[in-house]
Amino acid sequence: MPSATHTTPTTRVISPARSLRGSLTLPGDKSISHRYAMLAGFAKGTSRLTNFSTGADPHSSLACMSALGATTTRDGRTIEVTGTAGSFHQPKTDLDCGNSGSTIRMLSGLVAAQKGTFRFTGDESLSKRPMERIRKPLEQMGARVSLTDGHAPMTIHGAELKAIDFEAPIASAQVKTAVLFAGLQAKGTTSFAESIRTRDHTEHALKAFGAELVRRPHQGQDRVYIAGGQHLEGIDATVPGDISSAAFFLCAALLFEDSNLVLDALGLNPTRASLLDAITTLGGHIKVLDVKEQHGEMIGTIQVNRNRTLKGITILGALSAQLIDELPVIAAIAPYTEEGVRIRDARELRVKESDRIALVVKNLRAMGAEVTEHEDGLDVPGNQQLHGAEIDSGSDHRIAMAFSIAALRAVGDTAIHGAEAASISFPEFFDWLDELAIR
Ligand code: S3P
Repeated sequence: MPSATHTTPTTRVISPARSLRGSLTLPGDKSISHRYAMLAGFAKGTSRLTNFSTGADPHSSLACMSALGATTTRDGRTIEVTGTAGSFHQPKTDLDCGNSGSTIRMLSGLVAAQKGTFRFTGDESLSKRPMERIRKPLEQMGARVSLTDGHAPMTIHGAELKAIDFEAPIASAQVKTAVLFAGLQAKGTTSFAESIRTRDHTEHALKAFGAELVRRPHQGQDRVYIAGGQHLEGIDATVPGDISSAAFFLCAALLFEDSNLVLDALGLNPTRASLLDAITTLGGHIKVLDVKEQHGEMIGTIQVNRNRTLKGITILGALSAQLIDELPVIAAIAPYTEEGVRIRDARELRVKESDRIALVVKNLRAMGAEVTEHEDGLDVPGNQQLHGAEIDSGSDHRIAMAFSIAALRAVGDTAIHGAEAASISFPEFFDWLDELAIR
């Protein structure tokens, strides 16, 4: 599997389009693929995961699970994992997480209760991302976590863990996952409280693999409880299509009056589907053609057109946390809206694969837009025409893809430098964009 850290720097030139039409089945959701890969590697028996993500990041998780003693095989988008029945091997090398914050943070919870010493490394971007957020709960539970100035490389000395009641200081599903994965192996019942409800794939995945956990409101917060000492069994599962990858094409469909996009087998988990509300607010018309449930995850087919002019949107508070991965592309199409886009409470964007606020601002300005930067967001006025420009992806997959979409309605061609980063979550992106865009 290609990893953006090891692929050749590539520039993609995006020409303007007249419309966007077609139907797609997106590769498996990145978030769900990580969780299934890790739990399959931890469980007893063999799991068969179809429509697994084609992105490099979930393959970093799979490679780590192999280093920890699981056996993994791949046939296209189908992955088979034979797990370690709850006992990891001491890896012979560092656990290389590549560009993947999900791998390092979520897996830390699984290894924290295991015998041995586990050293995690990552690429330049991952080595700048904050890890203190997982060190705190895992050390409270009894593991020893050494960071390098708050970052990776990170070494975890596993220990017998005790349960804790943890209150999330920031909205983070990765931190929630680390705590629940450690809680699964701790003595007693661990609870995790969050005031902003983050994506709940971990809760569904743990249940799918046979664990019991309960969600109950407690003092105005949402609290999840998991008892330690539970054993997991392998499963057969299909990973729903990635709604965060779909976001690029959904936003592209908004740019043209006669666009028509059908997305099949798409993940529609309510904790991720705020995107569909945002698309509707912006002026999209979404028809849900069917929905079913599998292992707690909703999967459906949707059809998207634009039914009126492109309106604006204000994204604040909990909505910013729920749309965190989609904010770059919403901001990138903001100049084409009538009323502009206002984003706040999104400080976390500054510590993603890049400082996404700074890079969105820089690239929008390169395309000729007026934009105001705030510490926790940005304001992009509407009714602005963008012009083709040189775009710096900052080696960030979502920046490369977001500005490829902005380029579809620009005057002139746009060069996306560092376009290879798209392979982190969506290697097919540029080929599929070419197929969908009518020129
Ligand atoms: C993810 C959670 C989010 C998101 C990331 C994937 C997950 O990160 O930005 O792309 O799969 O749990 P945080 O947990 O840091 O908010």
